[in-house]
Amino acid sequence: MKLSLWRRYSFPASHRLFRAEWSGEENERIFGKCANPYSHGHNYALEVGVSGPVDPATGMITNLADLDNFVQEKVLDAFDHAYMNEQVPEFRECVPTTENVCRVIFQRLAGFQQAKIERVRIEETGKNSFEYAAPSNS
Ligand code: NI
Repeated sequence: MKLSLWRRYSFPASHRLFRAEWSGEENERIFGKCANPYSHGHNYALEVGVSGPVDPATGMITNLADLDNFVQEKVLDAFDHAYMNEQVPEFRECVPTTENVCRVIFQRLAGFQQAKIERVRIEETGKNSFEYAAPSNS
């Protein structure tokens, strides 16, 4: 039997979408207001989906406290209230679009031992959400 479990977290963070090697006009053409040099923030909602067999003794896929501690240590400690471009190392060379935030968070969580991290879903605003799914062969 395989079940999935989704757990929801949230964190505020700021970012600026731009590429240093592009001109100001090019950045504004591609990223619009998101290229504003003073950055802007979002209240991100993060959903982490894990799957695995249900332990017959505990009745659980994983202990939620273990998942919470892992997400806290691997993700929230770095992302919460951060200016991602400078404070999250992965974004020093990579534009912190929510597509990339999803991928980076998935990679940070991939080592969870108690269950398989299947999906990372992020809601950036009420209108935008993004999802990264584990490759099917992993
Ligand atoms: Ni934004």
